[in-house]
Amino acid sequence: MRKIVQALIGAQWGDEGKGRVVDALAQEVGVVVRYQGGANAGHTVIAEGKKHVFHLLPSGMLYPNRLCIIGNGVVLEPEQLIKEINELAPAPGDIGTKLVVSRAAHVVMPYHKRLDAASEAFRKKNNPDAVIGTTGRGIGPCYVDKYNRIGVRAEDLVSPESLEKKLRLNMAEKNPLLEKIYGEPPIEFESIYRQALEWGDFLRPYLGDSSFEIASAIERGERVLFEGAQGTLLDVDHGTYPFVTSSSCVAGGCCTGGALGPGRIDRVIGVVKAYCSRVGEGPFPTEDRGEVGETLRQNGGEFGATTGRPRRCGWLDMAALRYSVMVNGLDVLALTKLDVLSGMDELKVCVAYEMDGKRVSVFPNSAYGLEKVRPVYESFKPWKEDISGCGSFEELPSAARDYVDYIERDSGVRVGLIGVGPGRESTIYRDF
Ligand code: GDP
Ligand code: IMO
Ligand code: MG
Repeated sequence: MRKIVQALIGAQWGDEGKGRVVDALAQEVGVVVRYQGGANAGHTVIAEGKKHVFHLLPSGMLYPNRLCIIGNGVVLEPEQLIKEINELAPAPGDIGTKLVVSRAAHVVMPYHKRLDAASEAFRKKNNPDAVIGTTGRGIGPCYVDKYNRIGVRAEDLVSPESLEKKLRLNMAEKNPLLEKIYGEPPIEFESIYRQALEWGDFLRPYLGDSSFEIASAIERGERVLFEGAQGTLLDVDHGTYPFVTSSSCVAGGCCTGGALGPGRIDRVIGVVKAYCSRVGEGPFPTEDRGEVGETLRQNGGEFGATTGRPRRCGWLDMAALRYSVMVNGLDVLALTKLDVLSGMDELKVCVAYEMDGKRVSVFPNSAYGLEKVRPVYESFKPWKEDISGCGSFEELPSAARDYVDYIERDSGVRVGLIGVGPGRESTIYRDF
């Protein structure tokens, strides 16, 4: 792993195992940056037998003397961030590593979460097909305010005057929406204002200029890793719109969400699960609602790290992966959860789609197109052996090696890391 600036993204619908791969890479990088999304993310790291789930903190936080950055592109839920900081700190203020939170990151206010829930309920009542199944973390409404230029930024939490002005403007706009359209009680200024100033007091020591921190780190020759949240197929532009999240989850997102010239990215890593999962609504061609889906869910522990919802599961979708390779310019793949396929009675991969009676190999990047396709499967030889103890590619059973070889051949991208279990030790490195 010799590259200086790397972007790591989810190549499917999220929960590919990004957290564990970031943790693996963080051994060798100096800086880890979260650059989009918010507490809708749930990134699991299992280190020394202990499970950590990061929603807002970068997954590099477990290593000492790193610089972890929450970039301007993130939407920040202060209460959640403070909780994560406190959980990690053995003593107040001592989190073992340096954390910088961008002053320009937008703040998820309590009314964003209320608007998120109210908007979902509104859809359910007026057009159930439009329900997204969000995480309820206020992500969409917060990004709406950002792009509408009315949002509260982290810097406002330490500036009582601007905070008051912004909150009053937001109240004037949102209260009629809450009361008249959604039939909800209005926003109460006083309690939110006071709470926001308390958040500001706590977060003040961490606030900084993330663009400058990133640029300086690169200048010093430090290795910087950008940690994507969600996945390519949940990207607001390139995902299965409208069943997506509200940020740029593709690799390009790190340039705007973290302040980086596109030419500075040395390597883009795509994290891909050996099968597929999806949480929330939206088309999912390989979803298996029967025994296979249930086996994958149970064996893979496929329950949301943020909401606890059971994840929808199905076979690996190569049309989707090839699409991810294309829109992200993937240089290398990290293949996770290969061990979950051990012991399956059958093993299938979706190699193309059938649409209107014709075979197509291209992924349609909208929900309307994807709803029309049917997966075309190829069968692979399953393996029975437990592979969780395998330390090298050569130790894997030949059927598992064939599966990995096929993914490489069909995607055109090298599989540089293989996850054979959730822990740090269950990782096979191949020139990663
Ligand atoms: P993320 O959001 O992409 O970071 O992924 P999540 O943490 O939401 O979900 C991945 C889940 O799979 C977590 O419970 C991980 O501990 C687990 N996991 C990651 N890699 C592996 C692997 O190679 N094998 C197994 N069995 N579990 C894994
Ligand atoms: P990580 O980073 C899986 C999904 C939600 C919903 C849609 C929109 O752990 O991979 P939102 O709350 O973002 O407005 O919800 O996106 N979603 C995720 N699914 N993993 C995630 O994050 C997700 N973050 C959002 O389930 O379908
Ligand atoms: Mg997750």
